[in-house]
Amino acid sequence: MLSGNFKEINNEENFHFPKNFLFGTASSSYQYEGAYLTDGKTLSNWDVFTSIPGKIADGSHGKVAVDHYHRYPEDLDLMEDLGVNSYRLSLSWARILPKGRFGDVNMAGIHHYNRMINNILKRGIEPFVTLTHYDIPQELEFRYGSWLNPQIREDFEHYAEICFQYFGNRVKFWSTFNEPNVQVILGYRKGTYPPSRCSKSFGNCTHGDSYIEPLVAAHNIIRSHLAAVNIYRKNYQEEQRGKIGIVMNTIWFEPVSESLADRLAVERAQAFYLTWFLDPIVFGRYPREMQDILGKDLPKFTKDDLKSSKSGLDFIGINQYTSRYAKDCLHSKCEPGKGGTRVEGFVYANAHKDGLPLGEPTGVDWFNIYPQGMEKMLMYATERYKNIPLYVTENGFGENNTGVLLNDYRRVNFMSSYLDALKRAMRKGADVRGYFTWSLLDNFEWISGYTIRFGLYHVDFDTQERTPRLSASWYKNFIFQHRAQSKDYDDA
Ligand code: GAL
Repeated sequence: MLSGNFKEINNEENFHFPKNFLFGTASSSYQYEGAYLTDGKTLSNWDVFTSIPGKIADGSHGKVAVDHYHRYPEDLDLMEDLGVNSYRLSLSWARILPKGRFGDVNMAGIHHYNRMINNILKRGIEPFVTLTHYDIPQELEFRYGSWLNPQIREDFEHYAEICFQYFGNRVKFWSTFNEPNVQVILGYRKGTYPPSRCSKSFGNCTHGDSYIEPLVAAHNIIRSHLAAVNIYRKNYQEEQRGKIGIVMNTIWFEPVSESLADRLAVERAQAFYLTWFLDPIVFGRYPREMQDILGKDLPKFTKDDLKSSKSGLDFIGINQYTSRYAKDCLHSKCEPGKGGTRVEGFVYANAHKDGLPLGEPTGVDWFNIYPQGMEKMLMYATERYKNIPLYVTENGFGENNTGVLLNDYRRVNFMSSYLDALKRAMRKGADVRGYFTWSLLDNFEWISGYTIRFGLYHVDFDTQERTPRLSASWYKNFIFQHRAQSKDYDDA
C-alpha cells in the first residue's frame, strides 16, 4: 500500500501511466496482409505501383508480405503474450469495396475483418482501426485520378460508412487516414509513392505539378476526413460510442540558429507539414503561414465543408520518429534544390548542422534518434490544439537488413528513451492516452521493400517464421511493470 501523497508526487521516479492507457503495436494492411487477390480483393494502388520496375529498392512487393491475412491468429498470440491491450491495424479498402462505390461490398472481405476483430477482442485487446493507410482501390485511380478529384470524397464517405455499419459495434477507435502529409508529399510532390506525380525539378515523373497537386490532394483528403467524421457523428457515434481522429506523421524541427529568421522557419516548417492538415480540421482554416505564401493557390473550403465539422476530430494520432534542423530560405539565401521553394514554405530541412548530425543517425537516411523531439512534439500539439487527446500511434526503430539481429539493443535504447520523453510530456500536462510501437513484425517497408526491419519479432520472409528479438521481452516487461504500478496506484 502506497502512502496517500503518492498521487501528488508523480515525479520522475513515481510517474505512472493511467490505468486505461493503451499500449500496443501498429501495422498496416499493405505492409502486413499479403493475400493480394484473395477472397475477392482487387488491385490496390500499391499493388500496381510495386509492379513497376525500379520503384522498390529490392524489387519486392506486398503480394505475400508477412501473410498476416492468414497468420493473424498466430500474430495475435504474440501480442497477447506481450501483454498489449490494443492493436492498431488498417483495413484494405480494395478488400471491402474492390471497385469503390462503383461496385458491391465484398462480403468475403467483411467476414475476414469480422473474424479478425472478434479474435482481437476475445484476447482483451482493443482494435484501433485506420480506414486508409496509403492503399486505395486502383479502380479510383483509373476512373478519376483518385485524390486529385473532389469525387473521392463520396467514395471515402461511402467506404467509411460501410466500415462503421459492419464493424462499429466493436471498434471504438477509428482513424480516417494514416499520414496524409507523407502520402501527398511523396505521391504528388516528389513522386516516389503512387501515383508517382511531380514536376521535373522535384523528381523523376512523367506527369504532375509539384506546386499545385499536393495542395489539391491534401484538400480533398481533408474534405474526405470531415465527411467521414460527420457521418460518424450524425449516425453512429452516439450508439456505438467510439472516437474518431486522424493520424499524422510528425517531424520535430529545431532552428538551425537562434536567429529570428530560423525560428520563424520552424513555424513555417510545421505549417507546411503538420498543421497544414490539422488546422483546417480543428480550426476550419489553413495555417496563416501557408495562406501568406501560397495565396490563391491554396484551395478554399466551402461553408458547407466547415459548418458540418466543429472541431472535426476526437483525438490526434501522432507518429513520431525523427527530427530535423530548419533553415530559413525566405529572407536568407539557400543553395538551389535545398528546400527553398514556396511549396516547402521556403524552409530547408536537414539533419545536419556544421557537419554534425541532429541526435544520432540510424543508417536509415530519413531517421535520426532525437527523443527530445517526441517530448517537444507532444507539447506543441498540446498547446496548439488544446484539450484534444493525443495517441502516439507510431514510434519505432528501423535497422538495415543486415542478418538476423535478434539482439536489438539499439531498438531497446530507442524505445526506452522515447518512452521517457513521452512521460516527460505527460508530466508537463500532455493528454497522451496511448503508445503504439511500429511494429510487432518486420514487414514491407514501402519503397525500401524488405531492406529495413522494424519488428520486435524478426521475420524470415521465406518461411514466415517469427522469432522474438530482445525488444519483444523488453516491451513485455515494460508493459508488465506499468500494469503493476497502476494497480499499486489505484490501490493506494
Ligand atoms: C510510417 C508509416 C508506416 C511505417 C513507418 C516506418 O511513416 O506510417 O507505415 O512504414 O513509417 O517507416
